[in-house]
Amino acid sequence: MRMRRKKHGAERIAACAEILISPPTEASDPQTYFAMPHSLHLEIGCGKGDFAVGMAAKYPENNWIAMERVSDVACLALEKAMNAKDSRPDNLRFLIGDAKNLTEWLIPHSVDCLYLNFSDPWPKKGYAKRRLTHQGFLELYRTVIKPGGMLKLKTDNESLFDFSLEQFAVCGLSVEWQTRDLHRSDKASDNIMTEYERNFSEKGQVIYSAWVRF
Ligand SMILES: C[S@@+](CC[C@H](N)C(=O)[O-])C[C@H]1O[C@@H](n2cnc3c(N)ncnc32)[C@H](O)[C@@H]1O
Repeated sequence: MRMRRKKHGAERIAACAEILISPPTEASDPQTYFAMPHSLHLEIGCGKGDFAVGMAAKYPENNWIAMERVSDVACLALEKAMNAKDSRPDNLRFLIGDAKNLTEWLIPHSVDCLYLNFSDPWPKKGYAKRRLTHQGFLELYRTVIKPGGMLKLKTDNESLFDFSLEQFAVCGLSVEWQTRDLHRSDKASDNIMTEYERNFSEKGQVIYSAWVRF
């Protein structure tokens, strides 16, 4: 997600400190960031935060961490959470950083469900390793996701979807559910849309989704 540099970005992020996790210096139990221990849901590449804020409100019985590597984008997500309509969610925290460092921040098997929403497709073959469903990333996820935990993927990009299915197979992961038209599937009514999802579906683009068991 490209974005013009935010004015006063550092000050605006500092104003959201109460819901921001500083990247830990060693792998930590994510439950320590929350008042109550609950199952832990992690979104990687949260963008402007629509999904994380919506899911944290819809499922208050879960703890949520939203990770974003671009600080100016994370700033908008943080402010969205701080200004949430009903109340500031106490079950949602943000982490500014890159997914490649996941195992340096989270202890093994601490995540119940990991979400990848509209991840950058990196269409050039030479950049395949940067795709967040490349086997290199899937092995990192395997370290932090609990055995029996889940990865949930949504994308508008058919090539990325097909590539992801191949990578799940390479890593011996079983796809429990998949669709090539999420909004006309049996999961449509529970779906919380992301910003990209809303933009793509308004243009008539179908949304692909898969749920993968670890
Ligand atoms: C195409 S945007 C989608 C944003 C949002 N998920 C949505 O659906 O509206 C992808 C986001 O993932 C972030 N991202 C990409 N690679 C990442 C990584 N390795 N770690 C953390 N965030 C990443 C980008 O900065 C960008 O904000």
